[in-house]
Amino acid sequence: MRFERRPWAEPFKVKVVEPLKMTTQQDREKYIVEAGYNTFLLRSEDVYIDLLTDSGTNAMSDNQWAGMMLGDEAYAGSKNYYNLEANVQKIYGYKYLVPTHQGRGAENMLSQCLIKKGQYVPGNMYFTTTRLHQELAGGTFVDVIVDEAHDPESDFLFKGNVCLQKFEDLIKRVGGENIAYITIGATVNMAGGQPVSIENIKAVNALAHKHGIKVVLDATRAMENAYYIQQREAGYANKPIAEILKEFASYSDAATMSGKKDLLVNIGGFVAVNDWDLFEELRNMVVIYEGLHTYGGLAGRDMEAMARGMEEAIQDDYMASRIRQVEYLGNLLDEYGVPMVKPFGGHAIFLDARRFYSHIPQSQYPAQALAADLYVNSGVRTMERGVVSAGRNKDTGEEFMPKLELVRLTIPRRVYTQAHMDVVAYSVAELYENRHKARGLKMVYEPKYLRFFQARFEKI
Ligand code: F0G
Repeated sequence: MRFERRPWAEPFKVKVVEPLKMTTQQDREKYIVEAGYNTFLLRSEDVYIDLLTDSGTNAMSDNQWAGMMLGDEAYAGSKNYYNLEANVQKIYGYKYLVPTHQGRGAENMLSQCLIKKGQYVPGNMYFTTTRLHQELAGGTFVDVIVDEAHDPESDFLFKGNVCLQKFEDLIKRVGGENIAYITIGATVNMAGGQPVSIENIKAVNALAHKHGIKVVLDATRAMENAYYIQQREAGYANKPIAEILKEFASYSDAATMSGKKDLLVNIGGFVAVNDWDLFEELRNMVVIYEGLHTYGGLAGRDMEAMARGMEEAIQDDYMASRIRQVEYLGNLLDEYGVPMVKPFGGHAIFLDARRFYSHIPQSQYPAQALAADLYVNSGVRTMERGVVSAGRNKDTGEEFMPKLELVRLTIPRRVYTQAHMDVVAYSVAELYENRHKARGLKMVYEPKYLRFFQARFEKI
């Protein structure tokens, strides 16, 4: 028998396909120069396998598409809003819901409601939009993630955990009253999709509440996080991820959500809270930025798709196939000795560009260069998550030089096949074999905010 173990496969089959354009390496060499070596600036039709992000790139089910025909597009009180609200209460356990067009809409409002100018906002590593909204609201972000998270070679199983000592030191240094709240991202995107344990969030909750500090969950990929708890944390192996997620969320006071990830939709998000007064404030504010509190920038049909996606995503067999596809790609690359963040993350494989292109200094953006090279090699589009994404210190203007200099191969949900993963692995392996030929980049245009989206580069 050629199999070492019984193979697994996805618990769904394909009903609709989207043809892809095939390009030549010569075409792609031209396109990447036109895009300033920034994969965000490529046209999607020139991409073969799009691993830029898992955000909004999910394939919806027939059930979700059917739900879209049941969109109640009333300005106020859409029935799809009430379906969504009921599912958020049932699945996450929060009392009150305000929908938003996507995650950053929720982050903007929550930051403005909870942060007073000059306050600190600790978090288990930053996420780009989350930190920016905290700063725009007058806060200062402080990273309190465990040290292991910054080490791509550490095999610690919960690299998303908060270091309680760092959190406590901050409380001692500035005082609980000067901390707006603590954000728990789960899984931690910038650390490589690394999970947080129940034990950790429970302890964070206890410490925070002792000092009157709220706990805000970034629930964007919290269902994927729950899968890791089931697989790795003592006492959870026999619990369904639905139950684990609800327990996990119960250790937070509020959540911001980008539905474009876990919830299997192309657009949507929300902020959910347990405190009535905070809900009142958010419900007031959403009218300014997003729309009435029963649609928050979404069409009724989008809310319905998200409500249904939530029920599909929380199924154990779906989630196992989701994470195992990512693992499949990681295992293939491991055979070629490609340096990656380990353990593999929930939504993506992260190449360690520091070790991959060890001859290119970080000031020449090795991860940005690797993402561009990968596109030229095979039409696979990925994303830099290193010095370009980290940006500059808002006080000194100096570039942050993060320890993690990564290229993210992000896997959209229910979109690509195992054969696509094989093509990706081959291309990465080929670049790794020829790595000594690679050259760095210099930045020739830099936008003021979230520079990685629109910055332009030239080859050195
Ligand atoms: N929080 C996390 C952990 C995220 O990964 C994202 C988005 C957001 C918040 C913001 O949500 O995009 O709906 O406004 N991450 C995407 C990515 C963009 O590619 O990782 P959004």
